[in-house]
Amino acid sequence: MDTFLLNNSENDLLKAAEHIKNGNVVGLPTETVYGLGADATNEAAVRAIFAAKGRPADNPLIVHLADFSDAVKFTSSIPELAYRLAERFCPGPLTMVLPKNDRIPMVTSGGLDTVGIRVPSHPVMHRIIELSGCPIAAPSANISGYPSPTTAGHVMRDMQGKIAAVVDGGQSDFGVESTVISFDDENSVRILRPGAVTREMLLEICGNVVIDPAILHEVAEGAKVASPGMKYKHYSPKADIIMVEADHDAFLSVVEKEYDEGVYALVFDGDTCPYRHMTYGADSSQQAHLLFQRLRELDEIGAKKVFVRAPSPEGIGLAVYNRLIRAAGFEVIRV
Ligand code: TXA
Ligand code: MG
Repeated sequence: MDTFLLNNSENDLLKAAEHIKNGNVVGLPTETVYGLGADATNEAAVRAIFAAKGRPADNPLIVHLADFSDAVKFTSSIPELAYRLAERFCPGPLTMVLPKNDRIPMVTSGGLDTVGIRVPSHPVMHRIIELSGCPIAAPSANISGYPSPTTAGHVMRDMQGKIAAVVDGGQSDFGVESTVISFDDENSVRILRPGAVTREMLLEICGNVVIDPAILHEVAEGAKVASPGMKYKHYSPKADIIMVEADHDAFLSVVEKEYDEGVYALVFDGDTCPYRHMTYGADSSQQAHLLFQRLRELDEIGAKKVFVRAPSPEGIGLAVYNRLIRAAGFEVIRV
């Protein structure tokens, strides 16, 4: 199959929407990361997403809608708190797990009776949902386990020959995937995956916001998890990632001890580093924006082992910290 690169002209967005209506899979830009989209109600199309990614069948897909008011069409009940959150955060990088109805096939929900609903704010994605008239199921558009794509080029690298087209909508703004939440009771939510909608922001609307322990700690094999994605290896480049929680000087002495062929450091902008290195921004927003791109670039230049200076886990930094600790397979050096 040839994979066509489409641009953000209305004509090309119409082509992308036609593909979705016809049951094809298309790489789509969003404000978080690029997604691999297809009609969420078409079982064959959804199976093709799982096949293209090599994704385990029990890991559910998020369903993307043009407006939160459409959520009633695909869910069996919506708590009042969800409407209040939608008013504040939709469109945007928030996914709410809700009880699904029969219009969402079990293939899409990975066998669960819930569905993650998200209303993306990226104008290209929004327009394609509108033009197709379909709810669009879309996981991140990477090969399963690899860092998520934040440019159309990244999607091409992973998906060329496997999907109908990729729409180039520029570089993703946030650079980390959406915040995923579930509802614990009428006034509290649980963060299943941290993102740009932070705990502090959720607390402006919710009485209580629980951070699921699996966000920062490895889950034991066979343990019950709140979100299937927590079980799987994620965001990992080919290079071995080691997260180092240390100040600037202590970080450098860790790298010095281990420095060898193929060893790189990933540090903050402004850090002085005498070793082979890349930088990934000076604050948490920049780090979120750049992290996945840097992990891909480190593979391209042949890095074998990468010591990463751990980000501050505050605000959107918690999302960066979470992606890195998983990329590192929970291998952390603390000094
Ligand atoms: O920003 C995003 O969310 C991107 C863009 C494309 O929208 N999508 C994305 O999808 O990151 P994916 O499939 O790569 O990650 C979705 C995560 C997985 O960890 C999955 O297990 C969890 O959300 N998830 C989806 N539906 C769920 C559900 N019904 N219950 C619990 N967890 C769910
Ligand atoms: Mg993903």
